[in-house]
Amino acid sequence: MCGIVGYVGPRPSQDILLAGLARLEYRGYDSAGIAVIDRDGDLGMRKRAGKLSMLRDDLERHPLADGTTGIGHTRWATHGGPTDVNAHPHLADDGKLAVIHNGIIENFADLKVELISEGYEFQSETDTEVAAVLLGREYAASHDLVAAFRATVVRLEGAFTLLAMHQEQPGLVVGARRNSPLVIGLGEGENFLGSDVAAFVEHTRDALAIGQDQIVAITPSGVEVSDFTGAAVEVEPFQVTWDASAAEKGGWSSFMAKEVAEEPEAVANTLRGRIRDGVVVIPELDGLDELFAEITRVVVIAAGTAAYAGLVGKYAIEQWTRVPVEVELAHEFRYRDPVLTPSTLVISISQSGETMDTLMAVKYARERGARTLSICNTQGATIPRESDAIVYTHAGPEVAVASTKAFVAQITALYLLGLHVARVRGALSATEVAQHVLELEAIPRKIAKVLDAESARISQLAHWMADTRSVLFLGRHVGYPIALEGALKLKEITYIHAEGFAAGELKHGPIALIEPGQPVFVLVPSPRESSLLHDKVVSNIQEIRARGARVIVVAEEGDAAVLPFADEVLRIPLAGPLFEPLLAVVPLHLFAMGLAEAKGLDVDQPRNLAKSVTVE
Ligand code: G6P
Repeated sequence: MCGIVGYVGPRPSQDILLAGLARLEYRGYDSAGIAVIDRDGDLGMRKRAGKLSMLRDDLERHPLADGTTGIGHTRWATHGGPTDVNAHPHLADDGKLAVIHNGIIENFADLKVELISEGYEFQSETDTEVAAVLLGREYAASHDLVAAFRATVVRLEGAFTLLAMHQEQPGLVVGARRNSPLVIGLGEGENFLGSDVAAFVEHTRDALAIGQDQIVAITPSGVEVSDFTGAAVEVEPFQVTWDASAAEKGGWSSFMAKEVAEEPEAVANTLRGRIRDGVVVIPELDGLDELFAEITRVVVIAAGTAAYAGLVGKYAIEQWTRVPVEVELAHEFRYRDPVLTPSTLVISISQSGETMDTLMAVKYARERGARTLSICNTQGATIPRESDAIVYTHAGPEVAVASTKAFVAQITALYLLGLHVARVRGALSATEVAQHVLELEAIPRKIAKVLDAESARISQLAHWMADTRSVLFLGRHVGYPIALEGALKLKEITYIHAEGFAAGELKHGPIALIEPGQPVFVLVPSPRESSLLHDKVVSNIQEIRARGARVIVVAEEGDAAVLPFADEVLRIPLAGPLFEPLLAVVPLHLFAMGLAEAKGLDVDQPRNLAKSVTVE
């Protein structure tokens, strides 16, 4: 949360910063601001509460003198409300120095007391301004921005990415990171900093990932990275695998609409290159077979939608490998003293690779001797760098705050991993693996079929239901996490009350919520594969129907048993039971999006949320 961009080079920086911020707005949109050292060597700054468009409008009406060194910020408020004053950048040293920040400086109150006692004054309620003022004090002593910055960051506790520049040193932007993201973009005669590569991908795909507790200084001609003691460190170069157009809306009404439409591709790309003659081959996992053979337990940690992908994965991995799998919210896991041994494999799942709760849980697991594997969609992100092994999902950049294509890609990656481990352990035969692989390979085509067949009808249904105040979701087995995901998506982007329940749990409480007209989505398992499960869910439908619920069923093509009890039937193609979630979630993503549109809400940037939550 909070997006950060920095630029030094020969070009006017404002447009570069604003374009970078537009791509980072998914990280927060409570306010936006830029600072630029203009050609006369003066530092200009503009910041506005609200979305980036407010800042753009302001800059159009009252232009800021441009220059070739600049920093920009888009905020998700933590300390201090989303006001103009609390927006970043924050200035110090009589307005000659500008600082932007992502994260939380936990000891800001103590530092503020110290600085106030020395006569320094503050304008905002933010923790960031404390870092700016501290940097101003250090700079006044040394007149060396890098040295002053180093002296500042060692005083800070908590999580931060900080960027700073001083008008006396144009052509230099310094940055530091601890537990918050920062990547470097390498251009020709120009360099960039960003919270992620989206900040600069339209200019360069050559990037460097910097590590924990490191400082970077960029000038037009060079990049220097050191640790907090000043010792030079080597950084890892990487190439961004997607281009700028992948992060554009490309004619779609919203990023979410585009990203749901890309769900088939997200699965196909995550499979690509990882299946050879019916065998799962994951080159990133070379050399780990011994570990996979020895593990006695898997713990999946994640947050939000990624945790629901983990729950789906649990059913498959346990069934295929016979290794017990637990799924736990990362923020709960870390604080309850979980049992971890060297034979525990902790799998983290994160689209952004930056979720602080998940990152901290991964570090905790490693410190306690567990082996860690990260499933992540973002190259150069922190969580994979902190893990023993990585399996990247290749969903492409996901911009809408509500995660959709990353979810199906995460399930796909978990399934590939599960099949690989099952093979290594001899829990599945080569023929069984090959059958499951065939199922997986058919998924992109089947998702595309759901999108083609049901999009228009679901959008219509959502418009009819625009005034609905509550929606329930029921599922059994792998349908249960899909019910949770359907409800989460609705809460996130339509702000209406939604709950997902295990259908069997209905009679233990939730059925009391059913009153005439209550809409309930029910995910019905295939009757071919498990008539027992199917029939149980059909009974659940009858129980809620009898109490007046309006039932919207997601059922396999040809399942006629649901017809007498459903007000609406949304169809998904035939698939093996473990593969149904990859199809059944699609109508739920479409429904949430349709309802948000019907209510006239901002589908991509729902209130109070950010895509990448880098605070605990
Ligand atoms: C936030 C987002 C959710 C997302 C969750 C986990 O809460 O609003 O959409 O599922 O973070 O994000 P991650 O990047 O770790 O998958």
